[in-house]
Order: sequence, then C-alpha cells, then structure tokens
Amino acid sequence: MAHIIAVANQKGGVGKTTTAINLAAGLAASELRVLLIDSDPQGNSTSGVGIEKTADRKTLYDILLRQAHLEEAIAQTEFEGLSVVPADQNLIATNLDLVDADRREDRLRSALEPIKNHFDYILIDCPPALDLLTLNALVAADSVLVPIQCEFFALEGISQLVDTIDRVKAAFNPRLRVEGVLLTMYDDRMNLTRQVESDLREFFGSEVFKTVIPRSVRLAEAPSFGKTILAYDPRSRGAEAYIQLAKEILSHEQRARSEAAKSAR
Ligand SMILES: Nc1ncnc2c1ncn2[C@@H]1O[C@H](COP(=O)(O)OP(=O)(O)OP(=O)(O)O)[C@@H](O)[C@H]1O
Ligand SMILES: [Mg+2]
Repeated sequence: MAHIIAVANQKGGVGKTTTAINLAAGLAASELRVLLIDSDPQGNSTSGVGIEKTADRKTLYDILLRQAHLEEAIAQTEFEGLSVVPADQNLIATNLDLVDADRREDRLRSALEPIKNHFDYILIDCPPALDLLTLNALVAADSVLVPIQCEFFALEGISQLVDTIDRVKAAFNPRLRVEGVLLTMYDDRMNLTRQVESDLREFFGSEVFKTVIPRSVRLAEAPSFGKTILAYDPRSRGAEAYIQLAKEILSHEQRARSEAAKSAR
C-alpha cells in the first residue's frame, strides 16, 4: 500500500515543487513505484517532469470535479518508475466549484483509494494556499512534509499551517503525521542560514530532517528542461541531497515498521 505524502506550505516559493519532483525522482531511483500528483493550478510539477499540458489530457480537475477515475489521468514520465497526475489552470476553479459540494474535502482521498496498491509512494505537490486543494491533500495523506526556506521570515505562517494540520487530524484524518520539516535553499556561507537553521531545529526538534537542500542553480535550471535533477545533473549537490532525503524517508518507514512489530509482540 502506498505511503502518501503531502508537500505543503502555504507560503509561496519555498521549494514545494522542487522537493515534490526531486524527492519523487529519488524514491523512484530506489526502484520504487512513485506517483506525483500535481495539485497546484500553476502546473509546475507537471511541466517539471516533462509532461505537456494538452487539451485532451485528463488532469486533477477532471478527477476532483468531473468524477473521472484517477487512473485515466495518470501520465507516464520518461523517468523509470515515475508517473504523474497533471494539473492545469482549470484547477483554479476548484475552490469555487466545490464550495457547496458534498464531502468536498474528501475527493482526492476517495479517488486515490482504488489505485493505492499500484504505488509505493504518492507525493502531492500543494499550492501556496491553505485552500480546498491543500485540504484535500492533507485529508488524503499519511504524512505531511513541510519545506521551509532558510530566510528571515522562515517561520511566518507556520503556526497557521500547524493549526490546519491539527484541525484536519481532529476532524478528518487522525492518522496524519508530520513526516518532517525540510530546510531548503540552504547556504551555509550565510550567517542568516545558520541562524534560521538553529531556530528551526530548536522549534521543531527532531521533526526537522537531517538532510538539508542546498541552494543550487542546477536545481533551479532542471525544470525548464522538463527534467528531474537526477536526470539533469545526477552528480550535482542538489541530486545528492534529494537522494539523501529519499533515504531518510525510507528509514522513517523502516523504523515505524519495526516499532509496530515490537508493539505487536
Ligand atoms: N534548492 C534550491 N536552490 C536554488 N533554487 C531553488 C531551490 N529550490 C527551489 N528553487 C527555485 O526557487 C523557486 C521556487 O521554488 P519552487 O517552485 O520549488 O517553490 P514552491 O514552494 O513550489 O512555489 P509555489 O508556492 O509558487 O508553488 C523556483 O524558481 C525554483 O527553481
Ligand atoms: Mg509549487
């Protein structure tokens, strides 16, 4: 059964999409079957893995609003093990179109149900808003990964996000947990980066991933070629960091499994 991770932070430009794409690639490189769901009308995850937004292609909008089966919208990328459910601008309408709908926060969860067994990991790239799309992602997910950019206002808005996660847990999805807080665009030559890192590690404790994602031009360039960093520049520091992150997440799962086995004994 797939482990479903929502990549969320309502703050814009913190590295959600870069993380969703390249963590997906890192997991797929470990010979796992990975589905990337683009849940942002900007469609950056879609183009970032080289999938074109054509009129005849089914997207997440068709699944959330037109009752299409999720399977119909899965597109195979050119990267082994990595598939994507694309997004396009139509998704902008989701918040309005679903406003009076029944169980409107449950659409993605129930759409994923029939295909969960086909994948090892499902990653959901959320939009920069605590809107109905992010809510659907949090309701569908087992865990949430929060990328935070190492900058002065890093913690701004985080309490709102934590609050939302808590409310989703209480109302819809009791198993939701925090997979981890990921420091992105990390530049260890800057005092500010190190200061922000120490604040975040103090605030979140062990919830912060050991792996940090360096600021790297190669990571920023890759999506314009429709490539993951592993395909674009496999030996770059950015590629290494996302492989390391994939390993850290796999070790979380191993730890959870052995703890479950221990408590069953
Ligand atoms: N580690 C990095 N090093 C250098 N540039 C990066 C890094 N991570 C992301 N970027 C760049 O920063 C910008 C924002 O990143 P990204 O699109 O991943 O953020 P986002 O949180 O998904 O944004 P949005 O909120 O708009 O969806 C992009 O131009 C991206 O290429
Ligand atoms: Mg994005």
